[in-house]
Amino acid sequence: MPKSSLFFRNAAEVLTLSGRGFPRRRRDLAELGIVRAGGVLTRGERILRVGPSRSLEREATRLKTREIDCRGQVLMPGFVDCHTHLVFAGNRAQDFEARLEGKSYLEIARAGGGIQYTARLTRQASEAELVAQAEAFLQQFAAHGTTTVEVKSGYGLDVRTELKILRVVRRLGRQTQLDLVPTLLAAHALPPGFERRRGAYIARLVRELIPQTAGQNLAGFVDCFLDRGAFTVAECRAVLAAGRRHGLIPRVHAEQLSRTGAIQLAVELGAASADHLDFANAADVRRLADSNVVAVLLPGSNFFLGSRQLPPARRLIDAGAVVALATDFNPGTSPALNMQFMLTLATCQLRMTPAEAVCAATLNAAHALRRADQVGSLEPGKLADLILMDVCDYREIPYFFASNHCAMTIKRGRVIHSRKSL
Ligand code: NIG
Ligand code: FE
Repeated sequence: MPKSSLFFRNAAEVLTLSGRGFPRRRRDLAELGIVRAGGVLTRGERILRVGPSRSLEREATRLKTREIDCRGQVLMPGFVDCHTHLVFAGNRAQDFEARLEGKSYLEIARAGGGIQYTARLTRQASEAELVAQAEAFLQQFAAHGTTTVEVKSGYGLDVRTELKILRVVRRLGRQTQLDLVPTLLAAHALPPGFERRRGAYIARLVRELIPQTAGQNLAGFVDCFLDRGAFTVAECRAVLAAGRRHGLIPRVHAEQLSRTGAIQLAVELGAASADHLDFANAADVRRLADSNVVAVLLPGSNFFLGSRQLPPARRLIDAGAVVALATDFNPGTSPALNMQFMLTLATCQLRMTPAEAVCAATLNAAHALRRADQVGSLEPGKLADLILMDVCDYREIPYFFASNHCAMTIKRGRVIHSRKSL
């Protein structure tokens, strides 16, 4: 069968984010490589050419492409959501209300709500039930312009259920059109009954779960929640180092609720990312700037928890750290899957510019997942993962906030969501 081909023509702006493949730091973070009156030509699942629309016309005719008129719209890479906890049962609307009545996230967790509550429901749920709920969310991710989604386990907290969640991710990956990137996050919370023998849980992860996860090829990354009320530096070092020995690349929930030295550990282990960073100090900013660890900021969780302490986005960017953005989609701290809203929060609350936020949510996020050779920018040879936004200037995406500007989502060269009838 001949490869199908699409010609996106005459976009007001094409945000190419083209470059030399490096993660973007400092001023480069705001370089979007804009082509006005631009076009993109795809062939099969890849991008064939990007440039001024007129310069692509002849080849488009030769290839007998289907044409998509993009006048008055912005064409850009699909969002890469590099931090989510997509697979869980039920939700936590009741915790939400308890917080509004004055209880803190930690108090709710200690009273049996929080992660433990979701873990109880997730243990009881069947694989089919978990697939169904997550699949419905993934359709929403696609409709809002996200084309690659990292997915953490972490609501199992025992070997059997953590593996069940990772199998659910594998099934979802086969049946949805989005690319999913699985991460083992068994060190998310201590399961009940282990309070006096924390070491036993860690040992089980190191000796059983990590080897089985790697052996069944169920994840490429290993994560841990290093914080007060979660796990210590020593415990996380043991888990991440074991992951690394089995070929799982570390990432860390770092300095979210308190400062614990998580960033130092992430840098020491060469983690792919350190995420959250609300309590990062000046030395941590330096450490990240001097490393290749991607600083993943999650402004949805700051917004939803009403945090007073925000991650030092400006200082990280100015010092030269690689900054990315993600939703942290999860039932407790960020039940939001719209990356466009994350751009609004990144600009209004973290003081990033719209251009920085776009780059952090696409190319740098792809680096956080070690997928920047495939996604995150519009360049020949990369996957044809692109979105068409109903705005004629990219700055309007965060500016007209809390609405969905995504008119069309293309994944691997196929239209998977469209507001227009084609
Ligand atoms: O990234 N920090 C830990 N994990 C999640 C929250 C999980 C939950 O509350 O269910 C986070 O914020
Ligand atoms: Fe998280």
